[in-house]
Order: sequence, then C-alpha cells, then structure tokens
Amino acid sequence: MEYKNTEIKAAAKQLKAKLEKLEDKRAIMRAPELAALYDRLKTLPAGKPRADFGKEVNQLKNELENFARKANVPQAKLASIDVTAPFDPNIPSEQRPELLPVKNGSQHPINTELKIILDIFARMGFAAVESREIDDDYHMFTSLNFPPDHPARDEYDTFVTTEGLIAPAHTSIMQNRVMKSQKPPIRAVIPGRVFRNEDLDARHEHTFYQLEGVYVDKGINAGHLIATLKTLFTEYFQKDIKVKTQPFYFPFTEPSFEFAASCPFCDEKGCNICGYTGWIELLGCGMIHPNVLKEGKIDTAEYTGFAWGGGIERLVMIKYGIEDIRHFHSGNLKFLRQFS
Ligand code: DAH
Repeated sequence: MEYKNTEIKAAAKQLKAKLEKLEDKRAIMRAPELAALYDRLKTLPAGKPRADFGKEVNQLKNELENFARKANVPQAKLASIDVTAPFDPNIPSEQRPELLPVKNGSQHPINTELKIILDIFARMGFAAVESREIDDDYHMFTSLNFPPDHPARDEYDTFVTTEGLIAPAHTSIMQNRVMKSQKPPIRAVIPGRVFRNEDLDARHEHTFYQLEGVYVDKGINAGHLIATLKTLFTEYFQKDIKVKTQPFYFPFTEPSFEFAASCPFCDEKGCNICGYTGWIELLGCGMIHPNVLKEGKIDTAEYTGFAWGGGIERLVMIKYGIEDIRHFHSGNLKFLRQFS
C-alpha cells in the first residue's frame, strides 16, 4: 500500500521493518509509531486534513492487522485426528490431540449474517425466537393445515425417527408455538436449522438454515408483507431492490406467493448469479391461512397476519458470490478464513 502523507509513509516503513523482526506479529498493533499517528491525528484541525490523515492511518492499521493475522496462522500441519476413536475423558488434556489455537477461530459467516438480518428485523419491531431441531408431526404438518395424507407432505422430504419424531424440514414448525405463547400484535422472526432428505448439489444441502417470520395484528394485508420483505432486501444488500410476487401454493397460507427480488449484482440485466433472468427467487410467503390462525388460538374475526420462510444460505451466497452451498458445512478453513 502506498501512502500519500509523508509522515504516514515514514511510519509505515518503520512499522513494516519492525514487523519483520517481531516473533508475535500481533505486537505490532501496540507499537509506539502507530500510537503516535493517532496522537497526531487528534492535533489536526477538523475538516479535510484530519479526514484524509485519519483515512490513511486506518488503512495502515488494517494493513498491519491483516498481515499480523495471516502471519500468526500456524503454517505447520497438525497431525490428523482419528475422529472415530472413542473419546476418553480420563486422558489428561496435554495428551489430547492438539487443536488449532482458539484465537485463530472466527465466527461462521452464517452467524455473522444472521445477526445482521435479525438486527434489520429488530429495527422493524420483530423479536427473535429460537427454533428447535427435533419435533413432532403436529407442528411439522397438522398445525399448518396439512390434512393427513395430503400430497404436500411429500414435498418436504422429511427425516423421521423410528419413534415418529421429526427433524424439522422448515422453521414453520414454530408458527403455532409463537401464536399460542403471545397475544397480538405478534411480530416474530425465527431462525433455525432445518433438515431435508435432498439430492445434494451446489444449491441443495440436507442441512441448512431458514428464517421464518410471523406478523399477526388487526388489519394486516399483503401490502404489509411486501413492504416488510422489500425493506429486508434493501437493507441487507444495501441498495434499492425491486420485488415481485408470483402466485404459489402452501397449505398454511392463502393467498400464497413466491417472492423474488431483482438481482443485486446486475440490476435485472441478467448475470450468472441470477441465471440470466435478472430476478432471484428468495422465499415463500403469504397471508396466514385462517385454519392456522385458529389452531394457534387467534381470533380470526379480529386478526389477520402474514408469514414467510426462506433459506439464509441463499441470501449469504448472493451477497458474497458464493457458488456452492456445501461450503457452509464443509468446515474448510480456506473458505471460513475469508470471513474472519
Ligand atoms: N415453510 C416453507 C418452506 O420451507 C416456506 C414458507 C412459505 C414459510 C410460506 C412460510 C410461508 O411461513 O408463509 O418451503
């Protein structure tokens, strides 16, 4: 990196020379040369000189941080661990296989992005509710207006245990619980891990994350639904996103829609992210079916509501141009470190 300001340029040279000699590269962040630049910044008159100086100091700080972080990742390969060996709690900790140092870890991109998404909804008054990872037929289907033996049940390729328990195939399992545990107005977003017996490819994983949303109040209509989702996408991609709905079928909503957003990469011109259509289908949604409201003990004479559900990986893939959904659960450090 080239710095325009001569003071910063000189300090950068000194700091880089110092960095070469340091054993713990992170110590560079405490170097007096760097602190001096920040002290100098405080003395500059407010306005352009200060802003320009501040920008370059920050660039230098980021450059050093990146360098320190990369250099501190151990280069030596750790011995591989036999993950099939039984875990013996009596082995003293220093004899257990060595793991990568915790300080080299970072938050998983799904977690980072989920926090951003939940913050967007918090600002719109939605509280987050946790989903669950084992459930029953009632919450997976019956409470959502799937009659017994209804063919739509088959669309969810659900994993079922021999005891009849279900690994949820969607976060809609929480709708009935949310309705029964709160009084309207209800505004809830529900992130959760879901499971499907899928044929795997770059777009399909057996385990992935969904975000469900439920809004119940007096006088709620599809306009509120569309405005809420448009706000989500505009905020998440930080640009003006167009949206469109197409009629669809879900047993738990009436009417039901498939919801598409204009491609944030090409602005509808068509590119490889949107499959040259200019639009990306992002989720399913609709006005909550009266049977579902009734099952959740909501008075349908007084209240209506909307709901939606969609994959979180999908959004993150679009934002960062990630080409294969299987990266998320791969545990591949090369993939994960790009988000650290
Ligand atoms: N549960 C649906 C799925 O996984 C997504 C969905 C569609 C959720 C419409 C909703 C909804 O809440 O109203 O395919």
